[in-house]
Amino acid sequence: MSKNVIVVGCQWGDEGKGKVVDLLAEKADVIVRFQGGANAGHTILFGDKKFILHLIPSGIIHPGKLCLIGNGVVLDPFGLIEELDLLKTQGIDTEGRLFISSAVNLVMPYHKLADSLEEKKRGGDGIGTTLRGIGPAYRDKVSRRGIRLCDLYAHDRLKAKLNEYARLNLEYFGGPDGGKPATEEIYNDLMQVAPILRPLMTDVSIELQKCHRAGKSILYEGAQGAMLDVDLGTYPFATSSNTTVGGALTGLGIGPKMIDEVIGVVKAYATRVGSGPFPTELQDEAGKKLRDVGGEYGATTGRPRRTGWLDLVVLRHACRINGVEKIAVTKLDVLDDFREINICVGYRLHGQDISEIPLDMADLSQVQPIYMTFHGWMSSTTDIDSFKLLPENARKYLSFIADDLGVKICLISTGAKREKTIVI
Ligand code: IMP
Repeated sequence: MSKNVIVVGCQWGDEGKGKVVDLLAEKADVIVRFQGGANAGHTILFGDKKFILHLIPSGIIHPGKLCLIGNGVVLDPFGLIEELDLLKTQGIDTEGRLFISSAVNLVMPYHKLADSLEEKKRGGDGIGTTLRGIGPAYRDKVSRRGIRLCDLYAHDRLKAKLNEYARLNLEYFGGPDGGKPATEEIYNDLMQVAPILRPLMTDVSIELQKCHRAGKSILYEGAQGAMLDVDLGTYPFATSSNTTVGGALTGLGIGPKMIDEVIGVVKAYATRVGSGPFPTELQDEAGKKLRDVGGEYGATTGRPRRTGWLDLVVLRHACRINGVEKIAVTKLDVLDDFREINICVGYRLHGQDISEIPLDMADLSQVQPIYMTFHGWMSSTTDIDSFKLLPENARKYLSFIADDLGVKICLISTGAKREKTIVI
């Protein structure tokens, strides 16, 4: 592995980044989150223990690793405290190795409320957000009325901001009591958590530069996936942050040379939660089988995920916009029992064949996938520990993907447990 690696999702999130990050974290000194918030749900299996982390970098479960949360994240302070408590009860000590940018924007209770009121208002055309207040928190950030971590310690400033911004968030959506949020209660709750957060505050950009200069290895942990990127994904059916490599630079305050390698995580088939175009979606028995065998239910919301065949058009886009050189293919074992497996190699749109994502999402909703059909391998891959030993049809499937994308496969995951991994 190169020294400083970024791991990004290449589909609609839920690619299995948690496991990949967890494996790479063993060799890293520092693990950082740079965007998103508690909308993420990174599932990690550690021995018999299962963790779902939403905010804290997955690397935290490795003793001695430094974990940082950058300014690009929107941080739910109460969610963070819950996560810290959960780790404590599991015997994981975070003392002195978890730090957060003082410039991080906070997700307030009124952001969550606005998120659900807004979704309700959209009715059937809703985005299907995770209701974690992510969109409203980023909206306040870019509108320059966010409350940042450092504001918690300037009490008059905090009170003034709360009074004005909470009202602005709820008025439009007609929140409870005519949009009058209980700011005093929020203030009091924030004062409870402020002393716990204070020692965690840092300047992540400076910390990372120090680590880099000291020759430490940094692992950048992306959340969600390329197709949910607010600029480059299936807008407006996207999240509100840059889930691609650019998000790491601005979300941490680092230059491009601080990243040596980009690893894209690709699930061996496709899933999506929430609304929006999904050209290879299956609404038949095969789709149901992918959901059942793959346990495709949201780690954050528990919602059943939409499922479909692998889409190379999506992956070409994801690899290009991220500069992906290597991919980690996850959940290969879910395909073990399929006689035939399809890969989407292009789309047909208005009678023409296209090989790249159209930027107008109205077009993406109308494309017809063009499939290439592969013979399945009809045998278990879960205990195989080398690429050479995989069934021939599985090797053909994987090699076709890598060749089309012009990338190398560096890792294949064949089960949730750490040891169910083929490292190439
Ligand atoms: P939000 O990020 O909660 O605003 O949700 C916007 C869209 O992104 C919705 O379709 C969500 O289902 C999706 N989304 C957000 N976070 C994740 C994730 O971690 N995995 C998969 N989908 C996500």
